[in-house]
Formats: sequence, structure tokens, C-alpha cells
Amino acid sequence: MSKLFMHGGKIDPVQARRISASPMLLRRASTQVDFDAWVGNRAISCIGTNAGSSAIAFQNWRHFKEAFPPELIARAVHESDIDVVKCLDPFGGSGTTALACQFLGIHPVTIEVNPFLSDLIEAKLNPHDVSQLKRTFARMVAKVQTVDVKSQLRELKSHAPQTMIQPGVNGRYVFFRDVLCRLLAYRQLINRIHDERMRQFFRVLLAAVAVPVSNVTISGKGRRYRGGWRERRPQVIDVDRHFAELMKLALDDVKRFSNRKYLGHSVLRGDARQLMDQIGEVQLAVFSPPYPNSADYTDVYNVELWTMGYLKGAADNRGLRLDTLSSHVQLKRFYPPAPTESVLLTDLLAKLAQRRSQLWHPDIPEMLGAYFADMENVLKSLYKLLTPGGKAYIVLGDSRYANLTFPSAKIITSIAGAIGYSVVRVEPFRAMRVAPQQGGRRELAETLLILRRDS
Ligand SMILES: C[S@@+](CC[C@H](N)C(=O)[O-])C[C@H]1O[C@@H](n2cnc3c(N)ncnc32)[C@H](O)[C@@H]1O
Repeated sequence: MSKLFMHGGKIDPVQARRISASPMLLRRASTQVDFDAWVGNRAISCIGTNAGSSAIAFQNWRHFKEAFPPELIARAVHESDIDVVKCLDPFGGSGTTALACQFLGIHPVTIEVNPFLSDLIEAKLNPHDVSQLKRTFARMVAKVQTVDVKSQLRELKSHAPQTMIQPGVNGRYVFFRDVLCRLLAYRQLINRIHDERMRQFFRVLLAAVAVPVSNVTISGKGRRYRGGWRERRPQVIDVDRHFAELMKLALDDVKRFSNRKYLGHSVLRGDARQLMDQIGEVQLAVFSPPYPNSADYTDVYNVELWTMGYLKGAADNRGLRLDTLSSHVQLKRFYPPAPTESVLLTDLLAKLAQRRSQLWHPDIPEMLGAYFADMENVLKSLYKLLTPGGKAYIVLGDSRYANLTFPSAKIITSIAGAIGYSVVRVEPFRAMRVAPQQGGRRELAETLLILRRDS
């Protein structure tokens, strides 16, 4: 997105007259400078995902494939007819909306169910004392070899999946023992830090080191062993090196942008379906829920969740899966019935139920019905929060099962209409591939849906 008010490095004179006449535009113009300094003049490959766009500060601490670019939030603010003071993202992920809001001088309210991701978001949003972080890190590095991790290792072995630690299961394991021990040694030193804000900062950066020093790679489908992982064999020194490199990168980001105009934020940890009623009025919401493609975010962040102690046993893992949107079938759960406002959805679900024997999991029709029921609940809660004239920018993805395509934006448009929203725009921007067993072609739309609460 081009700079909104700047022209050749100076404020455009015509724009400047308009801006000085409006406090809302004045605030936007001054914060736009902060925002532009953050994202630079990069080319955006598409509005739905950061993939293909060059990395920017904070967002490179831990690669998050599904993140959308901050330019989408700047666009939403720029297109708003009312002054945006507070903006909500009920599905925070890597914190793009929240960070972009800070750079735009808007108070971000973010909900995220995954404790590692909520920590990551908060660590990016919080101000930090860089010199103190540097000193503390140097002390940790000096002590790390002396830490005894026997009891931590015993604890992890007793409640994490056996595959996490060498010797693993059937000769496969996520971590070589010495590598895991080094991660645990740093974790212990981090736990000894008194200041929770600092602890959180170090915790998320150490967590971001875990996958690179493991024997697996992670994709939307969960984890997969790297080719030749036994020969590749990461060393203890790789943990030290990755952690030190990431610290340097993150501290540079924190320092460079410590004077951004707004540093306030609200991060709510837990299930958006429960928490949205606790939020006051907002003028904008920009978000992307999980797509109904059976990928489970709990699996995607499993390595970080177990190694950093976010999960303490199978019950925690199950609880987290239950709290995530009904977009996967990895565990037996209660699926709320599908909403009835979309005739298309009702028709597709009836056809899919007839093809149940072709599905790789029998609960997929119920999961899809529940997904749209969850989305209906989220949209109903949001309607109550939005100031009249406020908008929701929602990035959605289609899914396909047994040769039936579920066009999410079309279905959600009908559901939103019944709640009272007016549809401002339906903007398909990219085609995603269907599963290889269904041909692998790029036939699934990703769409930006813009809704408005009129009164
Ligand atoms: C598509 S990602 C959002 C990406 C985000 N827009 C970004 O730019 O980083 C969806 C997020 O929703 C979270 N999530 C899933 N179910 C949730 C729930 N019930 N409440 C809150 N967050 C949830 C997932 O953990 C995941 O981080």
C-alpha cells in the first residue's frame, strides 16, 4: 500500500488542508509516519498472507505462515468513516492487527487462545528496557552450562508425548537429548527472572528457537521429520547460536521502534467465543479466523507448547483443542448445530452427509456445521460491540470435501445479513490449492469480506 498522506517525503499540501480541518485525519497523518517507518515501501504479494512479502520488524521473531500483512489494517483504518479509537482482533495469531494498531495510534484489543501465541503477541506490544534485557541475557549465557535440568527432564518425560525426547517411539524423536537439555537449562534460568515482562520476552524467543534445533519441520498439517534428520544432528551450540541471533534481532526491533506513539494494548487469553462479551465498544475489527480445513493450530505449535511448559499433560492439550474454533476433527467433541440462515450451507451439508463414506473422518459434516455456528456467535458478539458505522474486515478461506466446495465468504455473508450487518464488499484475492487427493489445483478462494454495522 502506498503512503496515505505523504507525497515525495512531504505532506501533500491539498491533503494537509483537509487534514488540519479534521482531528481524526490529523491523528491518522501523524501516526501514518510511524507505520510507514515500520513496514517501509515493501511490495505486498497479497492482502491475505505475509508469505512472499519481505519480513518486517517484530514479525520475523517467529515465522507465522497465516499472518496477514499490517497494510490490511492501515487500509481498514483509512477506509473507516468514523474515528477508530479501539480495534479488535478476536483471533490474534502473531499479533499483526495489534501491532499495526499501535503503530497507527489505535488501542488494540486482541484475543488469542494459544498461550504461546498470546505471550508472543504481548512480548511484541510491551515496552522493554533493552539494556536490562542485554545484561540479563549475558548472565544467562554465562550460567547456562552449570544448570542441572534432571528434574525438569523427568517432569517433561512423565507428561509430554514420548516422541518429544530421544529415544522416542520407533526410533523417531523430536529432540536429541542434549539439545533438549540445553533448551530446558535456558528455560530454568528464565523462570528465575523476577520481572514477568522480561520472563515473557525471553520465553517467546527461546520458544522460537525450539523448532529450528529440533528434528522436525512444521506445516499447516502438523509436524514432519526433516530429510536426513539423524545425519543433520543439531548440536547444543546451535541452541546457543540461534538464541543469541534471535535476541540480537529482537532487541534491535525493540530499540528501533521504542518511540512509537502508542504502546497501550489489551491482550485477552482464551476462547474468543467466551471472551468477546467482556470487551467494550470498538470501532473496527480486523481478523482472520482459522479456516475450516481440518488443520489444528494446537498441533502446529505443539513443539513450543511442550518444551516451554505451556502444556503440563494430556488434559491441557485436550482443553486447548476444545477451546479452539471448530475447524478440526482431531478430538471427539460436541459440535453445535449448523446455523440455518444460509440455504447454501444447509444444502451443502445435506449433500456432504450423503457422501460421508468418502470422507477421511466421519465427523467432517458436523465440524463444518459447528464452524459456521461458531462464526455466527462471533459475529453476533461483534455486532453488539461495534459502534454504529463501525466495520469488520474478515479474511476467510474456502474448503472442499468429497468434491463439494464450501465457499466461506458466501455462507458468512448470508449469516451476517441475518444478524443485521450490511455487506460493504466481497473481495476474493487469491486461490489456494485443494488437497492433492482432490487434484491439487488452485481452486479455493481466499476472500476479504467487509461488513458494517449501520445503526
Ligand atoms: C489465521 S490465525 C490468525 C492470524 C493473524 N491474523 C495474524 O496476522 O497473525 C487464527 C488464530 O486464531 C486462534 N484461535 C483459534 N481458535 C480460537 C478461539 N476460540 N479463540 C481465540 N483464538 C483462537 C489460533 O490459535 C490462531 O492463532
